[in-house]
Amino acid sequence: MDFPCFLPKGLGQGHNKISKSRPHPFIWNFGYWNLIFVCYLVFAICNFKEGGVMTRVLITGITGFAGSHLADYLLEKKDLKVYGIKRWRSRTENIEHFIDKIEFYECDLRDASSTRDLIEVVRPNMIFHLAAQSFVPTSWSAPAESLETNIMGELNLLEAVRRTGINPLIQIAGSSEEYGAVKENEVPIKETNPLRPLSPYAVSKVGQDMLAYQYFKSYGTRVIRTRGFNHTGPRRPSVFVCSDFAKQIVDIEKGIKKPVIEVGNLEAIRDFTDVRDMVRGYWLALSKGTPGEVYNICSGTGRKIGDILSMLISLAGVKVDIRVDEHKLRPSDVPRLIGDSTKFKTATGWEPSISFEKTLQDLLEFWRKAQKAYKSG
Ligand code: GDD
Repeated sequence: MDFPCFLPKGLGQGHNKISKSRPHPFIWNFGYWNLIFVCYLVFAICNFKEGGVMTRVLITGITGFAGSHLADYLLEKKDLKVYGIKRWRSRTENIEHFIDKIEFYECDLRDASSTRDLIEVVRPNMIFHLAAQSFVPTSWSAPAESLETNIMGELNLLEAVRRTGINPLIQIAGSSEEYGAVKENEVPIKETNPLRPLSPYAVSKVGQDMLAYQYFKSYGTRVIRTRGFNHTGPRRPSVFVCSDFAKQIVDIEKGIKKPVIEVGNLEAIRDFTDVRDMVRGYWLALSKGTPGEVYNICSGTGRKIGDILSMLISLAGVKVDIRVDEHKLRPSDVPRLIGDSTKFKTATGWEPSISFEKTLQDLLEFWRKAQKAYKSG
């Protein structure tokens, strides 16, 4: 039997001819080139079904605050397949609502072989690297752990990518804390400002930033660094300032706490963005940013922490006393962080869209509805 040839005239026909003159089993008669063509079709169809033609996006830190909001944002998009990593003891309250829509892998980024296995299996086209020890005070009580998690975790990730021989776009989530001791005449802070870190956490973020830069320069790894200024919103753990105050206020509303709010340094000035705007920025950084570059993501508005407390109190309409808790004061607190995100806006068209008042309102609402799992967070 003679089979039609799917390939242009000349290509592959020779095999059909050979098979005509010498009777062969079915496979020879069918023709090499036709067989290859059919195999390719089967492969393409299978891959299409399993998301092979989709962009594979890996989020490290997906169980956390920004990571879970980023997943929410990406799950709205077509043609993306989202992968996440967790450790066996990771908390799951932030991911319960999308756990079935994401492919999860057990991985600890501090373990090089675990990270390598992950990257070899997922072979991502895009990586958002958000996993980190992110609370500044913890970096004083556990500096080695903060440096190991943040710097070694990133090193393992970059090495795994390099050794696997893939070249995905990688966002490295840096921080405004890297700027540290900013002088009065350096505000609003541009990406070109000197980095003068004031905590082990900030040092770890400078390390991450520089490591990413070095991989870009040395190996052409397509890294885009973002320096996110403060961000907050629903799901923010209660150790961070806005969430800390909002949770205390809600506990007072519920009558489970005396009407006294414990605070730290109310004089510090920070530049806040809603987390939902921030993660949209992360996506734009990889979609429209340039590998090797670094971008500030911020609102450009500086707010005194004391003023944020007053806003929350007036939004909730509670009567409270304020008491300074010595334990909340830091060995050195960055006095003022106000950013300039002109470079990022120009590159990506990003603009924050959620007002700070709405962010605080949503945060209060989050704590009012929070389940037990969050309350201990
Ligand atoms: N947490 C907390 N609790 N902070 C307080 C309090 C309080 O009761 N009272 C005053 N503060 C002051 C802190 O001293 C600091 O100056 C400011 O509020 C913000 O503190 P955090 O919310 O803990 O955030 P951060 O600025 O130290 O770091 C956050 O933002 C960075 C980006 O600039 C974290 O999210 C970092 O991971 C992130 O990189």
